[in-house]
Amino acid sequence: MSDRTGIFAGDNPFEIARNWLVDAEKAEVNDPNAIALSTVDADGMPNARMVLLKDIEDDAFVFYTNYGSAKAREIDSAGKAAFVMHWKSLRRQIRVRGTVIREDGAAADAYFESRSLKSRLGAWASKQSQPLGSRTELMAKVAKITAAHGPKPERPPFWGGYRLCPTEIEFWADGAFRLHDRFRWVKQSPEKPWEITRLNP
Ligand SMILES: Cc1cc2nc3c(=O)[nH]c(=O)nc-3n(C[C@H](O)[C@H](O)[C@H](O)COP(=O)(O)O)c2cc1C
Repeated sequence: MSDRTGIFAGDNPFEIARNWLVDAEKAEVNDPNAIALSTVDADGMPNARMVLLKDIEDDAFVFYTNYGSAKAREIDSAGKAAFVMHWKSLRRQIRVRGTVIREDGAAADAYFESRSLKSRLGAWASKQSQPLGSRTELMAKVAKITAAHGPKPERPPFWGGYRLCPTEIEFWADGAFRLHDRFRWVKQSPEKPWEITRLNP
């Protein structure tokens, strides 16, 4: 008999994640959709940085970035990544691990178009994670790009999304005296159902 009730109720982990994000949107001061994205480089050295989660689909978590960045290099070569979201206001966390593929089609175009013009031009101007001489240099590049691309810049070919398709998702909620609640969803292979396990805190 499962004792998974309240905020843990339901068997679909994507639905639970969406519900928790709705709760966080009401509670967090800033960026409730921020995730700490973790990758490894070619030497197996871990790396981590914040990015914004833009979509929770029925099989994937989606975020956007520059395909020339360090994270993109690391994701593209490993094909895997992990992230954690932590909401201090709610005292909850979600951990996700899985395989990652690029989202560089119509969904990426649509998301790019939904961004403010300045953000779209900024995406064109930034060689993310490459050395930059000065802020003046960056602003000059933005001005040049603005003149070249006008008011409707297309999505740069070097900018787009990633879809992290989880093999593992863990939901954690703070409990009294450090006796937290943890439930882990694991998929042994894409066609298999999720196995759900309660874990010790
Ligand atoms: C709250 C927050 C949200 C961020 N969101 C994004 C994002 O959605 N995409 C992105 O490329 N960088 C984002 N960044 C910047 C990254 O943390 C990072 O500096 C940048 O992507 C370069 O990382 P890399 O060199 O590991 O590729 C965000 C930073 C913070 C603090």
